[in-house]
Amino acid sequence: MSDTLLVRPMSGHAGAEIDNVDLSKPLCVEQKNGIRDALARHGVVFFRKQSITPAQHDRFARLFGEPTDVKMVDTVPDFPHMSLVAKAEEQLDNIGGGWHADQTFHDVPPWGTVLVARELPAFGGDTLFSSMGAAYEALSEGLKKMLDGLRAVHDNSMIGKLLASKTGKPHIPRTAVHPVVVRNPLTGRKSLFVNRAYTTHFEGWSERDSEALLSYLFIHGQRPEFQCRFRWEPGSIAFWDNIQVWHYAANDYHGQRRVMHRIAIKGTPLIAA
Ligand code: SIN
Repeated sequence: MSDTLLVRPMSGHAGAEIDNVDLSKPLCVEQKNGIRDALARHGVVFFRKQSITPAQHDRFARLFGEPTDVKMVDTVPDFPHMSLVAKAEEQLDNIGGGWHADQTFHDVPPWGTVLVARELPAFGGDTLFSSMGAAYEALSEGLKKMLDGLRAVHDNSMIGKLLASKTGKPHIPRTAVHPVVVRNPLTGRKSLFVNRAYTTHFEGWSERDSEALLSYLFIHGQRPEFQCRFRWEPGSIAFWDNIQVWHYAANDYHGQRRVMHRIAIKGTPLIAA
């Protein structure tokens, strides 16, 4: 088998499936760079029919950077940086069941996440992704110009307190201020960087003054044209760029079990537009 990756876009703006690569094996530089480029262009990439151990998952993620620490959810035994993203048969809530980007309340948010399917429901449990590059580009020039100059506050209170009440782990309050429009370091493409889970207001604006514009951006960013939807199968892996896409874990499989392993990768300082 040659080392050439086959990259097949899934929709007009988000997602590509990558074939012709076996992630259980060490990758060559060309394969690593090809995956990195596809991720920069499509925001999220998917691999199917893979069979990887947690150690191989860990090695693959580390090719792209150091894993972030895991504080608020359980981890996989022997892998303290690998979150267990699980929903049991009797649970009603899932993790990630709303549009969000991961941990944007850090000064340097994680840039990427590698999610591996371990146990899947017979139906449901898809993950949706939405391109914030496409969302930005679809705005009118006047609004783009205004947003280019703004920064916004990201705060973990809402989600952190909810998680703390469910897990019994302490809520550690964190806030960060980020540009509202950022640039991808590889392509230079601009994307919107606000999300409903963590962005509370624009810097220098009150929450009340920010509410209408932020709500507009949260709704705008969910337009189906910007999205792709991934149907998981045994052996599926998703790798997303946490700065360029939002994601949403559909919670439509009550009574069934779903178990995923997740590694988030440390980022580099965001580049303002
Ligand atoms: C998440 O990281 O938000 C969970 C995604 C998923 O389980 O599909």
